[in-house]
Amino acid sequence: MSAYFVTATGTDIGKTFVTAGLVRHLRTAGKSVAALKPIVSGFDMTEAALSDPGVLLQALGEPVTPQSIAKLSPWRFEAPLSPDMAAARENRTIDFAELVKFCRNEITASAGTLFLEGVGGVMVPLDERHTVLDWMSELGLPVILVTGSYLGTISHTLTALEVLRRRGIAIASLVINESPQSAAPLSETIESIKRFAPDCPITMLSRMVQTGLSEKEFADLLWMLEQHAFR
Ligand SMILES: Nc1ncnc2c1ncn2[C@@H]1O[C@H](COP(=O)(O)OP(=O)(O)OP(=O)(O)O)[C@@H](O)[C@H]1O
Ligand SMILES: [Mg+2]
Repeated sequence: MSAYFVTATGTDIGKTFVTAGLVRHLRTAGKSVAALKPIVSGFDMTEAALSDPGVLLQALGEPVTPQSIAKLSPWRFEAPLSPDMAAARENRTIDFAELVKFCRNEITASAGTLFLEGVGGVMVPLDERHTVLDWMSELGLPVILVTGSYLGTISHTLTALEVLRRRGIAIASLVINESPQSAAPLSETIESIKRFAPDCPITMLSRMVQTGLSEKEFADLLWMLEQHAFR
């Protein structure tokens, strides 16, 4: 069994896109794969198929039902805000110990490869004391860090890598996912990040107009993850 925590430098960067692509790719190869998105904010059951758990369930080839959503994403909030703020709008809080327990149980129960999508970026607050960083640190899974290629990404990426390094969190792969209307060519952005993070395993995903064009890129990413798993 191998499990990965999928995080990003921020929201809307491509965590679900990358996770769903990896899930589809592994399924096509006949491998056993699971996905989790324990916390989702901005969730609307009437548009469940478009939500992160909905997208992940479809990638898994499973029906999108209130039950399947609840299993994949037990902590759902309506407000499209950080989890602590979204929970407060509903007079709720996320019990960090419960969250960690839920994830550990699912990781133990999973037979194949499990991808656990975080929420927002590396240091989004979950409650008044914990951020996603504490969650990742507690679970100890290797991390897939998704970043963009927009102007500003180099600093955001290096900052995230430094924070992860200081907490002793292993990077399985840094995925530079091409942002829409990037100021600099993807290749130059990658070269620049490589200069400052020479030991980091890096893969890239180009911006796709349709899904399915990226088979080779997802295959390369999986290959990199497998190298990590065997280390
Ligand atoms: N390489 C890509 N090519 C085409 N579209 C992409 C690509 N990466 C991401 N997208 C699209 O960009 C949008 C944001 O991506 P995604 O939902 O994966 O971000 P996220 O990091 O999971 O966001 P959140 O923080 O809300 O969970 C989605 O509509 C997704 O389909
Ligand atoms: Mg997402």
